[in-house]
Order: sequence, then C-alpha cells, then structure tokens
Amino acid sequence: MSSSEIFAREYAVHLDSQDPLKHLRSLFIIPSKTDLKAKCLFKNSEREVQDEPSIYLCGNSLGCQPKGTSQRVSEHLTAWAKKGVLGHFTTHHDCDLAGFLDIDHQAANMMEPIVGALPDEVAIMESLTANLHLMMASFYRPNKRRYKIILEGKAFPSDHYAVQSQIKHHGFDPKEAMITIEPETESTPALSTEYILSSIDQHASTTALILLPGVQYYTGQYLDIRKITAHAHAHGIMIGWDLAHAVGNVELSLHEWDVDFAVWCNYKYLNAGPGSIAGLFVHDRHGQIHHAGPNTTKDTYRPRLAGWWGGDKSIRFQMGREFVPIPGAQGFQVGNPSSLAVTSLIASLDVFQKTSMAQLRKKSMALTRYLEQLLVDPHFEGEEAVLTLPYKIITPADPASRGAQLSVRLNPGLLDIVLVELEHASIVIDERKPDVVRVAPAPLYNTFQDVWEFARVFTAASVKALAETANGH
Ligand SMILES: Cc1ncc(COP(=O)(O)O)c(C=O)c1O
Repeated sequence: MSSSEIFAREYAVHLDSQDPLKHLRSLFIIPSKTDLKAKCLFKNSEREVQDEPSIYLCGNSLGCQPKGTSQRVSEHLTAWAKKGVLGHFTTHHDCDLAGFLDIDHQAANMMEPIVGALPDEVAIMESLTANLHLMMASFYRPNKRRYKIILEGKAFPSDHYAVQSQIKHHGFDPKEAMITIEPETESTPALSTEYILSSIDQHASTTALILLPGVQYYTGQYLDIRKITAHAHAHGIMIGWDLAHAVGNVELSLHEWDVDFAVWCNYKYLNAGPGSIAGLFVHDRHGQIHHAGPNTTKDTYRPRLAGWWGGDKSIRFQMGREFVPIPGAQGFQVGNPSSLAVTSLIASLDVFQKTSMAQLRKKSMALTRYLEQLLVDPHFEGEEAVLTLPYKIITPADPASRGAQLSVRLNPGLLDIVLVELEHASIVIDERKPDVVRVAPAPLYNTFQDVWEFARVFTAASVKALAETANGH
C-alpha cells in the first residue's frame, strides 16, 4: 500500500469488504440523511425508497437504535398487556424475556462479560449519577484523618457535583477535601499514568476515595485502570471508576483488576436509548453478606443506602422491616427498576452477544487508526495540499491509551464554520465549545467508508474555515 492509497474511497471500500463484523451494521437503524433534516417524525416515515444513511459518528454520546429494540419492547408491552401484574412472575414459551421481577437480573447477566465481571458483580439500575451517589454512600466513609476524594479536574461536571455534595454531606469543605488532578499543560490535556500516580502519592495519607474515568469523555484517553487501581490499594485507598465512555468501547476486566466499584450509563456505546437505565459493578469482596446464623438480625455487610429492591428476593414480598441484602451488586439496588428501560437495554445486549468485546475492540482500533491516518497528513484527491493543519488531535496517539473516540481541537474561531459544513454533509459528530470535535467510530455499526467520508469533509472544511477567517469573513 502506498501512503496516498489510503485516501482513495476504494481503499475504504476494500477495508469494509474485509471486515469480519460488517454484518452487524444491518442490525442497527442509522438515521438517514433525509430523516435528520425532516421537521416531521411520521410523515414519509414509511418511505418506499430507502434514502441514504447519514455518517453517524456520535455513538460516544447516543448510540444508534438496534433494529431489535422495537421487537423487544413490543414483547414487553404485550406481556404487560396480557398478564398485567402476573407478568412480574410469568415466563413464556415463545419469548425469552424474564418476568418483570427478574428482568434486571437477566440484563445484568448479559452485561457481565462486557465489563469483565463475575456473576452477581453487576446491577442494572438507576442513572449513572444516582449510582455514583449510592456507591459513594457506601465507599466514601471519611474520618478525621482520611477524608479527601481525588478526581480529575476535567471530570464530567456531574461527577464534580456529586463529589462536592458528598463531601459537604459529610461535613467537610470541598475546597480542602476535593483534590483535582489538573492537566500538566493546557495544550496536552491527557494525563500520563505516572502523573496520576504521583498526584495520588501527594495526598495518599489523607485520601478516602479516588474517582476516575475509564475513558475520559473530553480527550478520549483510556486510563490504565489496572495499574491505578493497584496503586490506590497499595495506599489503602478505595477507588471507583466512571465508565460512561468505556463500557462497550474497550475491553474491561473489572473483577481481575480488583476495581472496588464502577458506574456507567447504557446510552452511549451500549445503545439502550436516551437516558436509559444504567449499571454498576461492585467487586464481590464488597458484596458479601456474612450471616450471623439463624434467628438473628446481626448479619454484617458493607453499609449502604438501602431500598427494598436490594433486599433478599425470597422474602421481599413478606414486607418485613429487617433489610437483608441480596449478596453482590444487586444488594445495592434501591427501587423497582423500569422493566421497559431494562428491555430496551436487553435489545442492545442481544447484539453484543453476537460478537465479543475482543472482536469489537480489534475493529475499533483499526477504524480509529484509519481515522487518525487520514487526519494527520491529508491527501484527498481533488483537495489542495494542506501545508499547516488548522487542528490537532488531543487524544493520545498510543492505541492502547484510547478507545474509539478521537478528539480534535481546531484553531480558535474555526469550529462554527466547520460544523456547518459537517451538517451539510449529514455528518453527525459532537462538539465541545469552544474548539473541540469528538468523533467516535463505533465498531458495531460504523464503516471505514464513514471514517473516510468524515475525514474528507472535515479536512476540506477546516481549510475553508481557515481561509475564510484569514480573509476576515
Ligand atoms: C463521563 C460521564 N459521566 C457522567 C455522566 C452523567 O450521566 P447520567 O446523566 O446518565 O447520570 C455522563 C453523561 O454523559 C458522562 O459522559
């Protein structure tokens, strides 16, 4: 392959033809170019002529809808319609959805291989932020000596708010107790592992908890979860992970890496739908219940904010006053989860069961490497050679230190012009003002041609934006 060959569309077509996972794209609804622009939802929706799919590279924000979702949701609605309350306990010969009472458990079982968990280390429940609070209620137990929480300065705002409020809730002052790891320089926002470890060292003796992202939402950096977790534990510190951008994106081995807890949402790479029900992981050593013996209420277990859905299923409907948790992550549940939302998640997990995270990661690395190659030294036919690129990739160049997403920082003042061009071409990405675009080829449904088309339009648009701003337009 000559270096210019990769800029020909035929090359992307060739890569797609060699892709062992190419059949999975047909299991998703990719928003069409016409639908993206349409002002009505239903008019023309039963189009006889299929119009062209958009270039959807935004699975890091909201994943595409699996075609199986409406079928699964309809199964659930039918069970509710035909069985009413009995649907909680009833299973059917022609449908493999569990009764409403056990459906969260069914989804948790399907999720375990995706995050590398043992049976019972995953619960499907609540939202990411609510789960973070529930986990901190259990794992952030500050005392006079150890009371700090370390997180990164550029953590997702919801994580900041959650941490701040937990610190205040325990009577401490976030100004002193909230330690943020800031990037070493503004131009390189990724945090090296050594830098993270040394930041931990500085506060180790006074820190009660560390919260970090598996994949950082802004830079796309994939942190070394195993190494950082081991380092935290060597200092006797609990560590939890926000996996919003990691789950379904990179291979995870949460049990083996000895992670204390993790939380995630299921609407990004997990394609369960906007605001869909979230997940959490609790290592089995923290989920154990030590029974004191018959006829005693002295069972011991990790303290938590309890609710009836975390209670022993066999006695749940006896309406007793004594909380006896389910062993494992499900013992951290609080209320009755929406089985409608869980069903939507199961529809997505059905697709994950047709492949493996190892296969998906392999394709993802190839897609993202191709995207990077096309962006760093663009030579698209018919386009002028770009002498100085008006953008820089801020995601780490090492494929092991990133997931699917590349974050590209444009020179100041170019973003709005570039966004208009991308929209004209029906390319869906996500921007972070003032100057960053985040592009995430999702291996379940994106193609090498999607990547090629984005790179061609984006490089031309950024050059055009540069010329326009230089001319004072
Ligand atoms: C990294 C990260 N953390 C937390 C959240 C908040 O998630 P939720 O609103 O589902 O609680 C998000 C949402 O996008 C996120 O990207």
